[in-house]
Amino acid sequence: MENTERISLNNLLQSSDLLESDIYAIFKRAKYFLDNYKTIKKFKDLEGISAALAFFEPSTRTKLSFELACKRLSADTFSFQSSGSSLSKGESLIDTLRTIEAMGVNVYIVRHQCSGVPIFLQQNTKGIVINAGDGKHDHPTQALLDSFTLYQYYGKLNNIRVCIVGDIIHSRVARANLSVLQKLGVEVAISGPGTLIPNKNQADYKVIDKIEDAIDWADAIILLRLQRERMESGFLPTLREYSQYMGLSYSLFSKKPGLIVLHPGPVNYGIELDYNVSAFPNVLIQSQVKHGLFIRMSLLSLLVQNYREPGG
Ligand code: CP
Repeated sequence: MENTERISLNNLLQSSDLLESDIYAIFKRAKYFLDNYKTIKKFKDLEGISAALAFFEPSTRTKLSFELACKRLSADTFSFQSSGSSLSKGESLIDTLRTIEAMGVNVYIVRHQCSGVPIFLQQNTKGIVINAGDGKHDHPTQALLDSFTLYQYYGKLNNIRVCIVGDIIHSRVARANLSVLQKLGVEVAISGPGTLIPNKNQADYKVIDKIEDAIDWADAIILLRLQRERMESGFLPTLREYSQYMGLSYSLFSKKPGLIVLHPGPVNYGIELDYNVSAFPNVLIQSQVKHGLFIRMSLLSLLVQNYREPGG
């Protein structure tokens, strides 16, 4: 199908750059791919485009779904791994970018442990840059796929109540979702241990102290793992404490059987989520992964359309 949607962006660097109309345009194209992928195996949207998957930090879901999205759209892809590259011989990030660019790459899908790297790279290339997660800063495609999953489930988003539960302070997923969900009219709240949420007096969001109260208040919760790879020393909960005070146990879940549960993954079962809860149909973790593919296909399709027809 000829795509009639347009978005206002030439890159996706951070969630706050997305307009509400961009998000719904991405949803619409994603729904088209979702409805048609079984009959159309290959779409032509990225024909003649080369995409680099530059993941400087581990990933399963994001990397695989971007790679498959590129392939389903007929792009040429290659993976850049920092380990084993000339970065270990002192080559700078910018020289690495120039090297990849000289090979004719048009799209850079970047994950990095440092906040701001996708923005820095975009300032130094004419290609399309997509943020696939940068430090504690942002993870815009995760927020898009999470909100699309809720949209598919409820058929609307305004006035739905969503609480993000757990290690908020180290979470780029929390920051991305707070930005995107609010833009779509969702009522948002956060809940977490005192040392893992922003100072209550400075938080821009409703803060709910206990997970029991968060479940009472919310239609849907987004659970987060402890992001130990981003933690500095401090007064932090142990895994046992986190599980006890912020984990979704079977007995808590049973008190509100209609509760919708999301988790961006990777899940630490037995810590933030009881394994027995994960099999319930209103735990949408597998739908999130499935929707991630179509959201990323949609985003790539719309960004490449702007790249091919600037101002079009
Ligand atoms: N949700 C998410 O970003 O997962 P990965 O780290 O596996 O990509």
